[in-house]
Amino acid sequence: MAHVQLAHTADLDPEVMRAARALLVHVFEGDFVDADWEHSLGGMHALVWDGSEVVAHGSVIQRRLLHAGRALRTGYVEGVGVHPDRQGRGLGAAVMEALERVVRRAYVLGALGATDEAAAFYAHRGWQLWRGPSSALTPDGVRRTEDEDAALYVLPVAAALDLDGQLTCDWRDGDVW
Ligand SMILES: CC(C)(COP(=O)(O)OP(=O)(O)OC[C@H]1O[C@@H](n2cnc3c(N)ncnc32)[C@H](O)[C@@H]1OP(=O)(O)O)[C@@H](O)C(=O)NCCC(=O)NCCS
Repeated sequence: MAHVQLAHTADLDPEVMRAARALLVHVFEGDFVDADWEHSLGGMHALVWDGSEVVAHGSVIQRRLLHAGRALRTGYVEGVGVHPDRQGRGLGAAVMEALERVVRRAYVLGALGATDEAAAFYAHRGWQLWRGPSSALTPDGVRRTEDEDAALYVLPVAAALDLDGQLTCDWRDGDVW
């Protein structure tokens, strides 16, 4: 199993952050904007190194998801990517194992918005597709986010969940989920 460094944003040097961000820009072939990186900050990062190169990254940050009348303390997974030359060798699994430990010990729920390509990867790890309608708590009130409905996965920890119920995320710039 690959060695995974787990560290808070506050404890990672600027050059490490630059390397992690560069990895994600490469992995997502340029479709990784400033807001996507910003969404990955302020929580725990899981990093796999090959020498001085970051070859896998993911992070978990805190969000509030509203469900069944409660504002659930949620570990939200962001910025998961493995260098294209290193995919299929267990690095993504190693990153997720580290992040899932954080989710299970610090939050009542894990959540993420999956790319089409990675949906089966998360399902394989026990993440469950949210089947109900999704929304966001925007400055103008609650707005449906129907485009995201088929891409939201949760990792139940301690919260009572109805996967067919409504799930509403807190507000942020860029992609809300
Ligand atoms: C998705 C991704 C993170 C997976 O990382 P990886 O290192 O290639 O995956 P691993 O080698 O750790 O695979 C772990 C397990 O998941 C399976 N798996 C990996 N990718 C999969 C996929 N896309 N679909 C289905 N299963 C997948 C593997 O077969 C393996 O199964 P096993 O435990 O039975 O052997 C990586 O392919 C990636 O960076 N993709 C591009 C960026 C992306 O889409 N990120 C997700 C954003 S939400």
